[in-house]
Formats: sequence, C-alpha cells, structure tokens
Amino acid sequence: MQPLRSEPVDALAGEARVPGDKSISHRALMIGALAVGETEISGLLEGEDILRTAAAMRALGATVVRDGDGTWRVQGRGVGGLSEPEDMLDLGNAGTGARLLMGLLATHPGTAFLTGDASLRARPMGRVAAPLEQMGARIVARSGGRLPLAIIGTEDPLPIAYRLPVPSAQVKSAVLLAGLNTPGRTTVIEPEPTRDHTELMLRHFGATIDVETTEQGRTVSLVGQPEITGRKIRVPADPSSAAFLLVAALLLPGSDITLSGVGMNPHRIGLIETLRQMGADITSTAAREEAGEPVADLQVRASQLSGIEVPASRAPSMIDEYPILAVAAAFAKGATVMQGLAELRVKESDRLAAIARGLAACGVEVTVGADSLTVTGDGNRPRGGALDGQAIATGYDHRIAMAFLILGLAAREPVEIDDGTAIGTSFPGFIELMNGLGGRIRPVGVGFKPTQDR
Ligand code: S3P
Repeated sequence: MQPLRSEPVDALAGEARVPGDKSISHRALMIGALAVGETEISGLLEGEDILRTAAAMRALGATVVRDGDGTWRVQGRGVGGLSEPEDMLDLGNAGTGARLLMGLLATHPGTAFLTGDASLRARPMGRVAAPLEQMGARIVARSGGRLPLAIIGTEDPLPIAYRLPVPSAQVKSAVLLAGLNTPGRTTVIEPEPTRDHTELMLRHFGATIDVETTEQGRTVSLVGQPEITGRKIRVPADPSSAAFLLVAALLLPGSDITLSGVGMNPHRIGLIETLRQMGADITSTAAREEAGEPVADLQVRASQLSGIEVPASRAPSMIDEYPILAVAAAFAKGATVMQGLAELRVKESDRLAAIARGLAACGVEVTVGADSLTVTGDGNRPRGGALDGQAIATGYDHRIAMAFLILGLAAREPVEIDDGTAIGTSFPGFIELMNGLGGRIRPVGVGFKPTQDR
C-alpha cells in the first residue's frame, strides 16, 4: 500500500506526452507475436499490465525484446504458431490482457492456465468464454466464470457470427483474434460500436477486415488464416491517461498545457466531446495518422464548466473516463447526469460505487442509480479534505486513484488516497509528470521541497 496525497495548486503549465495507449500496446505485442517476421514498436506503454502481456507472449513462444525506452521488438510465430505455455499465465491486473489472450488461446491447440490479481480474479470472464466455446474451445473457470481458468484450445475451430450482448471491445477482439486461426469467416456484430484498435491493427499488419454498418449495428468480419507480416508501430499517447491532465488543466484557473501525440480514435474521444459541451477550451492541432490510428496534439486552457446530460449511447467511447469526468462535474455549475454506466461495476473495481463514495467524502453532492450517476456542483471548488482516516478507498484501481489525486489539486483542501500502487498498471511516471507541470502529489508522510526549488 502506498498512500498518496495531493495538495491544491494554482495552475498547470507546459507540454507533456503521456505514456503509450494501453489498448494498442496489448494488441501490438499480441498481433506482433502472430505475424511472420519482426514487429518494431515504439512508444509502447511500459505499465505493469503490458509487461504481463509481454511475458505471456514469450511464454507462448514469441521472442519479445526491449531495446530501450518504449522501443520493443517482437519476432512473431505466424498465425497458428503459438506453443503451449509450460506454466500458469498471470495477467496481473489486466482485463484486456486476459480476455484477448483467451481469444488467441481458444484456437491454438494445447492447454493453458490463466490467473490474475485479486481484482482480475473477481471480474467476469464468462462473456468471453461463451463465444469461444461456440468456436470449439473448452474452458473451465471458477464459479461466476472467474479466473483462475483453464482453456483448452481447439484443433478444429468453427467460424461463428456473434452478436455482442454487452458493448465490449475486449469480447469483440477475443472473437476476432480466435477467428484469425479459424478457417472461414468469423463475424462480430456490435449493436453499439466500441473501440476498433484490433481491426485497425490487423489491417496495418496486412489482414483484410470487412466492416459494414447494418440495421443490427456494426458488423466486423475476417476470413481466418491470413498471412500477416511484421510491421513498424508507433503507439499513440493514451487518451485515457491524457484525460487526467486535461481535466486538471481545465479545473485550475490560469492553466494552459499542451499534450502531444494523443490518440484520437473516434471510439475513444467521448470525454473530449463531453467536456467541450460542458464549456471546455480544448483545441486539437496537427492531426495525423500513425500506424493506422488518428493522432493529434491537444492544447487545453482552464475553463468554467457547466453540467450536462451525458447520454448512454456515448458510454462505449469514454467508458474508462467516467471517474475523471465525475471529478470535472464536481467543479461544474449544475447537474451532470451520466447514463448507461452498468459496465462500470465490473471494471478494475466497482467504479460506480467508488466514485460515489469518494466524491461524497470530498463534500460533493452525488447520487448513484443502478447504472447512472448524477454529480451536482455550484461552479465553485468543492471542499476535498479527505484525509487520514477518511482517505479515498481506491480498491487497487488506477483510474480511481488518479481521478481523486486530480480532485485534490483543484479542491479547497488536500486529498489522500489509501493506495497509489495501481497507477503503475497504466500510467508509470504519473506523479513526476503531474508535478513537472506544477502539481503537488507525494507519498503521505513525505514533505515537498519549497516551490522555488522544484
Ligand atoms: C478495452 C476495452 C474496454 C476498456 C478497457 C480496454 C480494450 O473494456 O474498459 O480498459 O482494450 O479493448 P470492455 O471491453 O470491458 O468494455
């Protein structure tokens, strides 16, 4: 446990690049391992979640080498070329790692055992197991479809057409990755579109992915056993990590920051759209494409925000951003009503409960429904002041931890969180980066140097 404390500061200023995108980093390592030849990755997120995926891909026979800061090389085994791992695969805290890997393993003959940390072992895996079993894999999991589980890959996979019962890019990607080593056409129908990094990256590696919008929704399909060849990938900065800096700059009067190379995939930028509707001054410049993904630089200036209704239809494009949006809403004038949040209950923690509990502890007016959240502000800084015995319980959830540290920078009184160790799963260097722009975040019990010496 590492308790952390953030203290009110005046403004943030400067330029920064947040670490590489977590979703894209997992996929780069996995798809690189299935390609023929070498994949060279730059800007890979070196968070704990991704290091677990790198270790898993090595255990399945790929050569995965770190050349330097964020620069990695993967020597792939070709589609169908992964070997049975000798030992348990431990994915740590990574839901994406576990679920996408299940897809790969489902259509590679052999038996693998998967586990994770206490948070991951509590999360539902049945949503991935169901379609993979239809394709011929056998999966034996703990009650509730939870890890640890054993997965016996099929030698004779069947292509399926699968309609997603929950909007989940992880489930979609697991089916598509299983479909890669399946003869015939594998199809996923998503009534609500989710992030399409798997589709874009497979295309980047030379596979043909067909995407159609029909009455049923977005239909994605591929014909199995394509030859995909190693590529160069530059991983965009993670918009879900940028979100914390972006909101901090909006909330601290006088702030002006620039974030470079941020991923702008349309299925990921619901938060930017929402904040702009609330009155945020966010300018996007130098729009470009890197490894098939849209990227831009973002300039953010402090803004007075107003509460709005955030429709359920927007949830898939900002599913990881509700903790920090709820913090922004606490500083806005009026009520911000967020709908369609049921999935937040099965993330790294029950985020709906964690947000509501934490905001209430900081003196914010908050109401939580079965799948909705309403946060009401008066346009002024909320109290904050969750200290000592009342430190925010993060439930080993990186995004809850970072969201409440941001609240402490902008509230009237400091905020403490019970444990910041999970931040390293997605945003190594978060504290240093925030403090470099003018933040004040530190381990509880450790003093700050006077401002002029920083
Ligand atoms: C992810 C999909 C989302 C998201 C997660 C990353 C991905 O999960 O919350 O952080 O990389 O595919 P769901 O598929 O459960 O919505």
